[in-house]
Amino acid sequence: MILLAASLPSSGPFVNALTTISKFVTITASIAVVGVLLAISFLIEDEHGKLSAQSLRLRSAAFWSAILWVVAGAANIVFTLANILGSQISVALDFTTLRSFVTQVTLGQYMFFQLIIALLIAGLVQNIKRNGAAIFLLIVALIGIVAPVFESHSASSGSHALAIGSLIIHVMALCIWVGGVFGLAILDPEARGLAVSRFSQLALWSVIAVVISGVANAWTRLNFSEAWHTSYAFIVIAKVLLTLLLIYIGYQHRKNLSARETMNVNWAKFSQLITVELSIMIIALALGSWLSTNQPPAPALGSKFDAATTVAGLPMPGAPNFTRVLLAFNPDALFLGILALSLALYFRGVAILKRQGDTWPVSRTVFFVVGCVIIEFATSGGLGVYAYFAFSYHMVAHMVLGMVAPIFIILSAPITLALRTLPQGRTPDERGVRGTLITALHSRLVSIWVNPIVALAIFDGSLFILYLTPLFGGMMLSHTGHFVMDLHFILSGLLFFHVIIGVDPNPKRVPYLARVVLLFAAMAIHAFFSVALISSTTLLDHGYFAQLHRLWSPDLLSDQHLGGSLGWAMGEVPIMLALVATFILWVRDDSREARRIDRNAERAAAMGTPDDLAQYNAYLAKLAARDERDS
Ligand code: HEM
Repeated sequence: MILLAASLPSSGPFVNALTTISKFVTITASIAVVGVLLAISFLIEDEHGKLSAQSLRLRSAAFWSAILWVVAGAANIVFTLANILGSQISVALDFTTLRSFVTQVTLGQYMFFQLIIALLIAGLVQNIKRNGAAIFLLIVALIGIVAPVFESHSASSGSHALAIGSLIIHVMALCIWVGGVFGLAILDPEARGLAVSRFSQLALWSVIAVVISGVANAWTRLNFSEAWHTSYAFIVIAKVLLTLLLIYIGYQHRKNLSARETMNVNWAKFSQLITVELSIMIIALALGSWLSTNQPPAPALGSKFDAATTVAGLPMPGAPNFTRVLLAFNPDALFLGILALSLALYFRGVAILKRQGDTWPVSRTVFFVVGCVIIEFATSGGLGVYAYFAFSYHMVAHMVLGMVAPIFIILSAPITLALRTLPQGRTPDERGVRGTLITALHSRLVSIWVNPIVALAIFDGSLFILYLTPLFGGMMLSHTGHFVMDLHFILSGLLFFHVIIGVDPNPKRVPYLARVVLLFAAMAIHAFFSVALISSTTLLDHGYFAQLHRLWSPDLLSDQHLGGSLGWAMGEVPIMLALVATFILWVRDDSREARRIDRNAERAAAMGTPDDLAQYNAYLAKLAARDERDS
């Protein structure tokens, strides 16, 4: 496709420049929105969950940044469309053309979605009064910002999963880093003291993510020698140099702020540094916008181009065998990034506990690592690779992501670890990160989610919605669809097994009998679904696997039936394991309860006071006497 792009009519340097400028203003304004919301929800202290006076004042900065985001975002849609059509702006401004772009073309749909998000934030931000609302808008803003990246020209590279995933991580980390620096810059000096210590950790993690993701993305573009003689490569090199400069300024900041304990921070120097830092960041944002709106270099015409790479985003692997499935690897940068961050946060939590002199069962850490490794294998590893090319492997990967990995993650008690290690309020009035998590866990929304019926409906109901509607074929065709599907499998599995065998706190504990009934229901529904698959006479993927022109196991329907049988077998095993675990927990809880009652009885006997049972019998006798009296 890139090769084709070279032969498409160009809309000329003027429209090209406008596209880059509007992209630059869009991303800068959106990052400013994130920066202000980050300051309000995470850097400035709240008052028992309510926004402080400083935060309330900052809402207008978020409002005006959002307005700029809306205007620039709308312009960016028009210029991007003119660029794609290779036409004048007037053509792109035609209502029918514009409407079909934002309703029928995936990139247009995602850009329009981002515009709606920007409008929503502009409409709501002035009215938020609680910390929770600011966090909600922050998450919505981040989703809006990364949506179009799923369809950026990274989608046309030979390794979709690496190119798109790394760019999404790049943009997310940029939002936190650049946005956070902007947030700090607009804070009142007296609020900076508390904010900088919290931001410096966040900044460090974000810088690491920006560099690794930037280099990974650059690699997918520049992994052939000719590419290094292009303006694209020069811009990337310029960005690397600017990043090194920014890292040096970060180091200067740390040196200056390390005098915080001695109250000797040179705030004038801090302001100077932050002004220089923001100016360099603006330049880097502009260069990044240029990169993302100009065609990256394409390998020489000689290189072979196959249907598999176009449809699935990676070359077709050889016929599956044990070694190939075990060793195949296609880095899904987004999942690798999420797993790396989760592992880093988990180990950091365990380290904090150790530093506090507390212990944490090693088995839990091992369970967490095993869970992450299983997810890696079913997304970037061999199972993940073959899942793109055969329904049977897709179903095995689905079962592993939805039923095997979640059990390990659930048994590693991540919520308990978070509750024991997340920072408390920095001031007596502040709710703190830990307080915010507790509030979220006790929220109405979470109590609806962990309702056993809801958990079962999401866990098993989604099978029918995904596979027995055209949804599956569509999801397989796009990288976004693939990512959302895998994420859904993992999250619905985590929710279901948390309700059944979770060791983490659950606002509403489900009685053991209800859990057993739920597991049997899940087994039955899963069996029913698998039988439907095994006896299916039509293909469920709406032509996805056919487009791959797979040479090995060409009979797509029998492969689908195989997927049904494997899904059935693999699905029942974890549910059986959960059933056994539930019975063990039940018996253990019962004996613990029995021991408690016995201990109470012994204690009561020792103190000569009636024990629970005696008290209860006395109560019943009183009731009987009263009834007799009344009768
Ligand atoms: C080691 C340093 C960095 C490297 C190697 C790097 C590399 C890249 C690459 C390869 C892209 C993808 C361009 C495309 O879509 O073809 C990109 C996008 C981008 N980069 Fe960087 N970058 C780095 C640091 C930064 C910094 C420090 C900033 C800003 C402060 C930045 C801002 C951006 C922006 C705004 C985009 C466009 C994102 C989008 O598509 O929405 N980058 N970068």
